[in-house]
Amino acid sequence: DLRGVIALDGPAGTGKSTVARRLASTLRAAYLDTGAMYRAVTLAVLRGGGDPAEVAKSSGVQMGTNPEDPTVLLDGADVSAEIRGPEVTLAVSEVSAVAEVRRILVDQQRAIIAAAVSAQGGIVVEGRDIGTAVAPDADLKVYLTASADARAQRRTRQDEAAGRAANLEETLADVRRRDDYDSSRAVSPMRKADDAIELDTTDLDLAGVLTSLLDLVDGRE
Ligand code: C5P
Repeated sequence: DLRGVIALDGPAGTGKSTVARRLASTLRAAYLDTGAMYRAVTLAVLRGGGDPAEVAKSSGVQMGTNPEDPTVLLDGADVSAEIRGPEVTLAVSEVSAVAEVRRILVDQQRAIIAAAVSAQGGIVVEGRDIGTAVAPDADLKVYLTASADARAQRRTRQDEAAGRAANLEETLADVRRRDDYDSSRAVSPMRKADDAIELDTTDLDLAGVLTSLLDLVDGRE
């Protein structure tokens, strides 16, 4: 079983979420999807919450950390599906570029990580800035990459599987737009930590990525 923190960072469509959940399950660790936190705050802003920093401070976002069922609650209601919809996806990078929003959510993320480590021993945390900003002392840092085409194809298949409208061209444009935005923002932009191991998932399936990650976890011990 995992002791400590695994940081999984990288852009959209690398298979990060699926693989992070599976890794956490396999290691009987907790799981935290930080992207879902930015998405839930964005949903609250879109619903008329007003100033993003105020929303982040007061928002009733509750993150499930069970990798089998990582439900996201907003004011007590399950918004796990809605936060993946096109409205939130379009707006989330802008909300997550607000420095005060990041400060508040990073504090919350650190508290969730500390609680999970003391309760369960370990946690797999996924996002864009986990290895660089949220958990710079993580025991293992992996930065997942894949070609933009491969990432757009993955996202499109995921959308189809979840019953959302899916269009490869639009998804590719969205993936590129968010990458540009996320990697060029002033506050903790998306980037590989110096001590992170880069794993290119372009030609790997889920099982292949999981095997590579488990090898890295073993190598660390
Ligand atoms: O991982 P996901 O695609 O759900 O993340 C949605 C958005 O949240 C990203 O495009 C990025 O703008 C933001 N994000 C972030 N920092 C994180 C995780 C996500 O800025 N640690």
